[in-house]
Amino acid sequence: MPFLEIKNVTKTYHMGATPVQALKRIDLVIEAGEFIAITGFSGSGKSTLMHVLGCLDNPTSGHYMLDGVDVSRASRDELAHIRNQKIGFVFQKFYLLPDLTARDNVALPRLYAGVSEAQARREAAELLAMVNLAERMDHYPSQLSGGQQQRVAIARSFINKPRLIFGDEPTGALDVATGNIIIDLFKKLNSEQGVTIIIVTHEPSIAARSQRIIELVDGNIISDKKT
Ligand SMILES: Nc1ncnc2c1ncn2[C@@H]1O[C@H](COP(=O)(O)OP(=O)(O)OP(=O)(O)O)[C@@H](O)[C@H]1O
Ligand SMILES: [Mg+2]
Repeated sequence: MPFLEIKNVTKTYHMGATPVQALKRIDLVIEAGEFIAITGFSGSGKSTLMHVLGCLDNPTSGHYMLDGVDVSRASRDELAHIRNQKIGFVFQKFYLLPDLTARDNVALPRLYAGVSEAQARREAAELLAMVNLAERMDHYPSQLSGGQQQRVAIARSFINKPRLIFGDEPTGALDVATGNIIIDLFKKLNSEQGVTIIIVTHEPSIAARSQRIIELVDGNIISDKKT
């Protein structure tokens, strides 16, 4: 059984009178340990696909099996539980809490998972060292560069040891060199920890660093190639 499989998945948004079909009967199989880039023009459905795959939202129709579990019709609470256990997210905007240090930002999802504060802070420190921010642990987000903030966000996405990490334009707010450092970190998590990584990007040079590129046009997958 594949790690992740969607069949005939559609997503339709209803806003005003005209429905928008953001995904049109998508089929996709992803194995554990893959490193995938989803590309396509603005409005092609990349974020929508990521929201469905990431259990942030249900598909309108079709089936989604994640790690042997049918999540197609899961309730909001069930989806939240699956996300907490299995999935990490990194976004273009870093969404760090301004009043918490880097270390406490990283530790927070671990507290929600029921771990003691001392242990969560210890694990956060280890992860910040992994992303080369040991010296910046006690800094607040406003005292960090964009690339450093994104490294904190990556450490945070990994604190609950997810098997799957999604990045929606994770390098979009960064210059090319800093973006490549972020991709290096994803590659490290992928190769050393076997984490499945799926990033949305419209930068060809970033997509080229993945193992497989899936291209969307107007809600359809029009190409799916190994790099
Ligand atoms: N919450 C929503 N309500 C209504 N329509 C939406 C919503 N989210 C997305 N859409 C529409 O669905 C389509 C796909 O949007 P989506 O955000 O998935 O595109 P994208 O490929 O991520 O684009 P971008 O590169 O600009 O981020 C677009 O036509 C968009 O306007
Ligand atoms: Mg998007």
